[in-house]
Amino acid sequence: MSLDELITAAKAVRERAHAPFSHFKVGCALEDEYGHVYTGCNVENATYGLTVCAERVAVFKAISEGAGKLKRVAVVADTDTLTPPCGACRQILWEFCGDADLVLENLAGKRELLTLKQIFPRPFDASFL
Ligand code: THU
Repeated sequence: MSLDELITAAKAVRERAHAPFSHFKVGCALEDEYGHVYTGCNVENATYGLTVCAERVAVFKAISEGAGKLKRVAVVADTDTLTPPCGACRQILWEFCGDADLVLENLAGKRELLTLKQIFPRPFDASFL
């Protein structure tokens, strides 16, 4: 799976975002060690607080479907300044993906390649327990 294909998957699932309150659509695609892809979009709720971001939807889908080690994360939104995962998603991504490769892209094709550690430098995780 090429990086372009992973980003295409994130763009496609973004179209399914349920975002009637913010109108802010996000798509996420994860690739595991076997090249399998798991996608998620944000799913908002009228209570607002029960909204789940695209990244967490993708991680939870991947885990429940038996994904292997998650290696790459693609996040697509329609912002000039590329949209990074929120704090809660960084924690979840760290726990399930570790220091995975992260690519952010917007609909104009602006792209940035990062690692999770770069955006979440001093994580709390199970190693402290
Ligand atoms: N959102 C995501 O899905 N991922 C992010 O990385 C940032 C925010 C969603 C949550 C909410 O539905 C909308 O974007 C506005 O915050």
